Amino acid sequence: MSQVTSFPKADIKILLLENVHPVAAEAFKAEGFQVEHLKGALPESELVARIGDAHILGIRSKTQVTPAVIEAGRRLLSVGAFCIGTNQISTMTANHRGVPVFNAPFSNTRSVAELIIAEIVMLSRRLGDRSREVHDGKWNKIAVGSHEVRGKTVGIVGYGHIGTQVGVLAEMFGMHVVFYDIVAKLPMSNNRAMSSLDDLLAVSDFVTLHVPETPQTKNMIGAAELAKMKPGACLLNASRGTVVEIEHLAASIKGGFIGGAAVDVYPDEPEANSDGFASPLRGLPNVILTPHIGGSTEEAQEAIGREVSSSLIKFINTGATTGAVNFPHIDCPVAKGAHRILNVHKNVPGVLRDINRIVSDHEANIRAQILSTDPDIGYLMMDLDNDVSLGVKKAIAELPTSIKTRILF
Ligand code: NAI
Repeated sequence: MSQVTSFPKADIKILLLENVHPVAAEAFKAEGFQVEHLKGALPESELVARIGDAHILGIRSKTQVTPAVIEAGRRLLSVGAFCIGTNQISTMTANHRGVPVFNAPFSNTRSVAELIIAEIVMLSRRLGDRSREVHDGKWNKIAVGSHEVRGKTVGIVGYGHIGTQVGVLAEMFGMHVVFYDIVAKLPMSNNRAMSSLDDLLAVSDFVTLHVPETPQTKNMIGAAELAKMKPGACLLNASRGTVVEIEHLAASIKGGFIGGAAVDVYPDEPEANSDGFASPLRGLPNVILTPHIGGSTEEAQEAIGREVSSSLIKFINTGATTGAVNFPHIDCPVAKGAHRILNVHKNVPGVLRDINRIVSDHEANIRAQILSTDPDIGYLMMDLDNDVSLGVKKAIAELPTSIKTRILF
């Protein structure tokens, strides 16, 4: 069960699949690691055959990192998901094997915010309809129903990473910004917090949704909420498809109450680009439909490459797990002139007592010690004086509760 890993940087092997952005490979090479960079995903059997040597596996959304893949990763230290979601990875198996998984949840924040700003202007000028008409050879030069966004109010539901960016950008356009969040948030610039969703719906010319998918946000905007919006107001959803009851949105637009919508996410999204797309919103006036591309920009891909590679490099070099999706979070500057022991162990009573006994038996001087746990594992980071560190590491690694133990020189 227990595994000891301690090696020079040049021996660390990184296996990158699915054409991860080249900035990641460059960052790993700059650290002196070996990098193998493949264009496509690998099926499970091939990945199982190849992962044995890899210390780091980098994937995007297509590679299935199954329990068999993780078990076959004898040397695997960590998995990097160079994307947002981690559903394709057996994160619990990884947790039980002492393998943190990192992703890049916020690298495409700005891309989504910019799309929303563009769409607010597009909806205000009914650009989707005008563009479609001109493409169809119809010259419909009208000003009726076309507005500037200056002085209008945008209501942001979910004032997190994306919501706050939208708020800042909208103000630059001269818009008033109100927001509603279940958590108290510091307003950016002149953005104003509303005490309820209803209050926000009542004053907003544009309502834009930036909440996560949770039981509370499922069908958060249905017939009742749409009816509380200002007549002619527009709804934008680039969050998750389950947040809006799409049939009710379609009905409200058809009935002429809601003035338009920009939708990027749907309750049922096609799996592949070649699959067809059906939605009650298709063909409706002043409705912009996009295929879940809110965060899909080359800049976001590059930012993801940087963010995930830097998390992985920091984990390799210091053991820091901040941001890992399946692991206790620990980060601490490495004490000067000390060796660092990193130990992942089963979260059972008595582990710390055993470790402290080993430390005391070796008369080791601890410079820093941090332990963080989740229901199944504990992660210990301990900086020790150099003279005894190897002996302490060996003894800790041999504990029956230890899952993975590394030493950093
Ligand atoms: P975040 O976690 O930074 O912010 C979400 C905010 O919503 C938080 O402030 C949270 O307190 C708030 N919130 C949660 N439940 C709420 C409720 N019931 N009512 C009001 N506020 C609530 O998330 P981030 O990064 O801003 O992403 C927001 C959404 O955008 C997510 O659903 C994410 O999946 C989606 N997204 C969509 C992309 C696309 O391509 N269309 C790309 C990236 C993210």
